[in-house]
Amino acid sequence: MSKVWTEDELKKVSDGLEGKDPVEALKWADDNFSREELSLACSFGPEDVALVDMLVKINPKARIFYLDTDLLFKESLDVKDRLIERYGISPERYGAKTTLDEMAREFGEELWKREPDKCCNIRKMLPLAEALSGLRCWITGIRRDQAPTRANAPVVGWDAKFKLVKVNPLVRWTSEDVWNYIKKNNVPYNVLHDRNYPSIGCEPCTKPVMPGEDPRAGRWAGFQKTECGLHK
Ligand code: ADX
Ligand code: SF4
Repeated sequence: MSKVWTEDELKKVSDGLEGKDPVEALKWADDNFSREELSLACSFGPEDVALVDMLVKINPKARIFYLDTDLLFKESLDVKDRLIERYGISPERYGAKTTLDEMAREFGEELWKREPDKCCNIRKMLPLAEALSGLRCWITGIRRDQAPTRANAPVVGWDAKFKLVKVNPLVRWTSEDVWNYIKKNNVPYNVLHDRNYPSIGCEPCTKPVMPGEDPRAGRWAGFQKTECGLHK
């Protein structure tokens, strides 16, 4: 097993990476954790496809996983296929143990319309816990300017909820930085981003936004909810 990091040590590492290119954070993760211990959480959003491009260039065998809620847009799964074709990766799928039919029988139809937290717990959080259970470090595409809840996210830190190291290489990037990277490197991306969907989750909980609106306004529109719990 690789080194066990204290929170103080992680803070120093994070401070050292703060002003550096995101690639340096990925290199740190790849250098300090074995293949079995490390994986990138990929929702096939713009941040994540950029990270896939960077990570595969560092380590073509790096692991990538996705949470399939059974309610993803077809266009998101198309991105997965295009990434596989382009980079030769094998994204690992983690899905809910409860089928959509079972969830409807137990809690009623369209649970996401009434209790999105319960639905996210069944379809995202439990699969995430399973995905992370064998790992010692995960990589995510969160950015500080996405939401007030993410404003203080470190580059590297201890994820107290899931009890492993969490690396967020893009925290300092803006959406524009991400898109510049995607265009420059010709990275495959979700076609829905060209149709007023800046932030994409599950199909029933994602709406297009008007120009000038908060990019996350289309997520769980009509609810107070702004996070599914992955990063709280
Ligand atoms: S969410 O909490 O609102 O759903 P968001 O869509 O902003 O999260 O994504 C933030 C980061 O969480 C992504 O960059 C990715 O690392 C991770 N993530 C979100 N959804 C998934 C998913 N379905 N599969 C894997 N990782 C995900
Ligand atoms: Fe359910 Fe919506 Fe959460 Fe997806 S985003 S798991 S559909 S509540």
